[in-house]
Order: sequence, then structure tokens, then C-alpha cells
Amino acid sequence: MRRNEAGHGGSPLRFRLAPLTPSKRAVYPVWHMSKDGISAVGNTPAEPAIRVVLMPKDTNAHGTIFGGVILSYIDIAAAIEARKHTLKKIVTKAMHEAVFVAPVFVGDLVSFYTELVRIGRTSITIRVLVEADRIAHPGERARVTEAEVVYVAIGEDRRPTPIRDEV
Ligand SMILES: CC(C)(COP(=O)(O)OP(=O)(O)OC[C@H]1O[C@@H](n2cnc3c(N)ncnc32)[C@H](O)[C@@H]1OP(=O)(O)O)[C@@H](O)C(=O)NCCC(=O)NCCS
Repeated sequence: MRRNEAGHGGSPLRFRLAPLTPSKRAVYPVWHMSKDGISAVGNTPAEPAIRVVLMPKDTNAHGTIFGGVILSYIDIAAAIEARKHTLKKIVTKAMHEAVFVAPVFVGDLVSFYTELVRIGRTSITIRVLVEADRIAHPGERARVTEAEVVYVAIGEDRRPTPIRDEV
């Protein structure tokens, strides 16, 4: 029996979105975007670092969600993932290359999935994948964008410092 048929309380929206329970976790293909096109390279992690419902205050002049809002959440989601790997003070160095392939609409539930790409000497790189569950089309999920965010660990002098303590 589907959860929305089981008579649980709460808003109907809650039950139309992507599966949240462990038994119903979805696995989605990851699409890697480059100048050469888009190719599937793996699967979406089961749990996002962040999920947000975006509001009218987040829109651009056309009424869809402003790209800068999504970029901000990408940075936050990536920082959450980076924090799992280092407790050093980190700053955002680069965001490689966020190409928006679908819009986000007011009320969509937007999920930010993260994974560690690499740990360098002073930098740590996190990939973020963004998907939107459509409020207007229950059960429909769109891939919005992906990006790699590079953080650099800095010391008291604000210069790069090793991610791992060197011995
Ligand atoms: C972060 C900062 C201290 C780094 O200084 P820097 O002189 O560029 O440092 P380095 O050249 O030694 O590079 C540091 C690391 O970043 C990596 N890096 C530098 N530029 C990069 C880029 N464009 N893309 C990916 N990685 C990059 C280097 O490869 C190195 O990684 P590694 O040590 O793991 O090999 C400095 O650029 C800075 O303060 N930037 C502002 C950060 C900030 O305020 N962010 C928020 C913006 S509002």
C-alpha cells in the first residue's frame, strides 16, 4: 500500500514526493555534464545533504527560482559534506561548472545530493547534484544541475593549510 493511501496525517504533498523511507529509497542515475554532452556515471546517493522547498521570495523576474539561490544551497550542501572529512576552517575556492538543465518552480522540493570527489593537500572537492520534485506534477523528478565545489583549508593567516595534519 502506498503511504498516501494508508491514511497517515499531514499534507498530501508529503506523500507524493520521492520515497523517503529506507525501504523505498530511490536510486537515480547520475548525469555528468561536460562540453562533450551528458553521460550517466553512477547513482544518486540515497539521502540528500539538504532538502528545501523554495518560496516566491526566491524567484527571478520570470517567476522561476533564481539560479543564485540554487548556487547558494549547493555551497551549503557541499560544505556539510566537506565537514565530514575535515574540521579545519575551509573557504570556498571554486565552483566548477554549474549548468542549469531544468528550471525550479516555486513549491518544488529540491534535493541536494553530495559526494566526496577528492582530498588534496590543502583542498577538498565535493560534487553536488540537484534534483527537483515537481509540486505541480506529483511523482515527477527533474535533474536541475550538478557542480563540483572546491574548498581550501586556511590557517590563522588565511593562507592555505594542509587538510590533514602533516607529520
Ligand atoms: C583560499 C585562498 C586562501 C587560496 O589561496 P591560493 O593562493 O589560491 O592557494 P593555492 O594556489 O596554494 O591553492 C590552494 C589549493 O586550491 C586549489 N585550487 C586553486 N585554485 C583552484 C581552482 N580554480 N579550482 C580548483 N582548485 C583550485 C589548489 O590546487 C590547491 O589545492 P591542493 O593543495 O589540494 O593541491 C585564497 O584564494 C582566498 O582567500 N580566496 C577567497 C576565499 C573566500 O573568501 N571564499 C568565499 C568567497 S565569498
